Amino acid sequence: EPTKMWSGRFREPLNSAFEDWQRSFPFDWRLLPQEVAASKAHARAIAAAGILTEAELTKMLEGLDAVVTSNPLHAETILAKATNAEDIHHFVELELTKHIGNLALKLHTGRSRNEQIATDMRLFVRDAIDNTVAGLRAWHEALTTLATEAGDSVIPSYTHLQRAEPVLVAHWLLAYASMIERDISRLTDARARMNYCPLGSGAVAGATLALDRTIAARELKFTAPTPNSMDATSDRDFALDFTQAIATLGIHISRFAEELTLYSTAEFGFLDLPEAFSTGSSAMPQKKNPDLTELIRGKSGRLLGAATTLATLIKGLPLAYNKDLQEGQEPVFDSADTIAGILSVLPAFTRALKFNFDRMKTAATTGYLNAMAAATYLSNKGVPFRKAHEIIGNAVRLGIETKRELDDITLPELQQLSPAFAEDFFAAITLEATLDCHDVIGGTARPRVAEALVASKKKVSTR
Ligand code: ARG
Repeated sequence: EPTKMWSGRFREPLNSAFEDWQRSFPFDWRLLPQEVAASKAHARAIAAAGILTEAELTKMLEGLDAVVTSNPLHAETILAKATNAEDIHHFVELELTKHIGNLALKLHTGRSRNEQIATDMRLFVRDAIDNTVAGLRAWHEALTTLATEAGDSVIPSYTHLQRAEPVLVAHWLLAYASMIERDISRLTDARARMNYCPLGSGAVAGATLALDRTIAARELKFTAPTPNSMDATSDRDFALDFTQAIATLGIHISRFAEELTLYSTAEFGFLDLPEAFSTGSSAMPQKKNPDLTELIRGKSGRLLGAATTLATLIKGLPLAYNKDLQEGQEPVFDSADTIAGILSVLPAFTRALKFNFDRMKTAATTGYLNAMAAATYLSNKGVPFRKAHEIIGNAVRLGIETKRELDDITLPELQQLSPAFAEDFFAAITLEATLDCHDVIGGTARPRVAEALVASKKKVSTR
């Protein structure tokens, strides 16, 4: 009995270090559910082509189910069981033989591992996308809940990390909701684009059997069979799309993590880290450290790494299948595992955040964050904006020199800078006026943010 899937033409045994080193089973064992689902679909297709009788098909399907139930998906048990399996395809064939004997050897009729791995990986990525989108919905909901609870609370916005203008806390949080909405859209697009079935593509040129490829495609819930066998067996765009979309998502999550890390410092004091998600120091008794956000920031580097590894791996490959592609599995697994881990803690962490709204408000109302509203006041009085900017700049300088905010400067003093100032100036630079003068789609005026919050909730819940 041959112990390999391809020993016929070989006379010499494999170098044992090489044999061990080239195996993918140590990591592709986790594709067992996908490999079996694809094998069942293929079994139906070859039965329809007359290779299996109805009874053989039934036996084959039962055998394949038994392979799944008798092999719990745990690395140690599964790896210990098949130290000689080259890859998941070989493993399933070996296991199936245990259950149904030689009939198992008919399963490979008209197919190749090249189409199998392309199919298994698509199935894996499809599930990973669905799980990620579910996690993103939960994070989105946590953010919109926080935004609702924040009401009219304000926080400084920053440009160049210098205080810019006051914004609603809800507006700030909804910035991340917008990113999530794009992430979900990217992942959903990628899912639709990749949802074509490679089965029936053979090793490179198409199956050597007159298979009805729509049978397997339908069985596996793919939209249709892939249109070109050379592309189908060597295309990993779906893996690239996935890892790249996840890398972009990682960048968003990392920016959120960075902001919270910063805002939790005593220097900002905008939030108290939830104890359930923080850690202490073994040396300094007073410490409460933002390990969660730091770890997220770090892990997003891995996500970028996975996308880069894949792109680099694929770019020099001639058509069609090349063994290099085996190296493309682990970055996909790592990306899926890493984002699943992040999303297992991020929504609950976000919900547990406690903001220090007083500190935020003080920061948002000191340091001349209403200067832009003040310049707008002058421009509404007919002063050209460039001129208004200059005048308010002078007022700010006066404020800095005399340690006063704009609203503490007297009207006569202001009028020395410009005759356009009138008593109504002070109403135009209150916190509320400063917010509400941004009355455009996407602006931080209170009614606009209320609308945006409703729209954002609707976008993600109805998708
Ligand atoms: N383990 C292989 C992979 O991941 C499966 C395909 C092998 N095909 C082959 N012709 N050697 O790429």
